[in-house]
Amino acid sequence: MIRMIDLHCHILPGVDDGSPDMGTSIGLAKVAVEQGITHMLLTPHHMDGDYLNHKADVIAKTTAFQEELDRNQVRLTVFPGQEVHITGELMQAIDRDDILFADESNRYLILELPHNEVPEYTSKLLFALQARGITPVLVHPERNQGFMQDPDKLYDFVAQGCLTQLTASSYVGVFGQHVQKFTEQIIDAGLGSVFASDAHNFKGRNFKMAQAFEKLSKAKGERFTEIYQENAKSIINGDDVILGEIHHVHDKKKRKKLWGLF
Ligand SMILES: [Fe+2]
Repeated sequence: MIRMIDLHCHILPGVDDGSPDMGTSIGLAKVAVEQGITHMLLTPHHMDGDYLNHKADVIAKTTAFQEELDRNQVRLTVFPGQEVHITGELMQAIDRDDILFADESNRYLILELPHNEVPEYTSKLLFALQARGITPVLVHPERNQGFMQDPDKLYDFVAQGCLTQLTASSYVGVFGQHVQKFTEQIIDAGLGSVFASDAHNFKGRNFKMAQAFEKLSKAKGERFTEIYQENAKSIINGDDVILGEIHHVHDKKKRKKLWGLF
């Protein structure tokens, strides 16, 4: 079985629209372990208009969850994180030390855009983060309507140095054919960096990591799959990710062909 790291999930109990209680969280953690997941970044929603999960609270709750996992002999290591929603207040939140990065060196930021659009100020904010040495990891671009309508926007952010986290369940069809196809196109265009589960519950939004990696190795080969797995580890460790073999930024003509626009 492949050993996997999950960078994005909502199984910290009682903090957002994911797991409602500790019992459910332990059950979900067991499913993750069965999938082959050994390490997990817990990423409750933060500053998305519905949920605030402050850094100090997430750290305390993650420690309590780890204790409960250990007590139940679930062999999973969890780390505190946040799924940070893009907002004009992000910089102040970073300055206030209320943001959890994917790694302890504060290099990789798990960042969510609204589902229905790519806000005008996104590029500017991404540049401002990068100017501080932060690499944004854009989560589930394959489910964003703005990117679907204009995939070149995603190309531009990747060319600018952002990473992208594709959702395992999107790739295996949980969100329908359209999202599945767009996930495949992003991977084929060399604009994906890593898979994560974004798991919320037992049905529907579950892990699907093993299925996604199996599909990826059939479609793109073992080496490509290994790179996606190594990238998850590099992000959580704050190390450089491998971009060369998977993240090729094409010239404009080729790019249009990739998206099937002509
Ligand atoms: Fe999420």
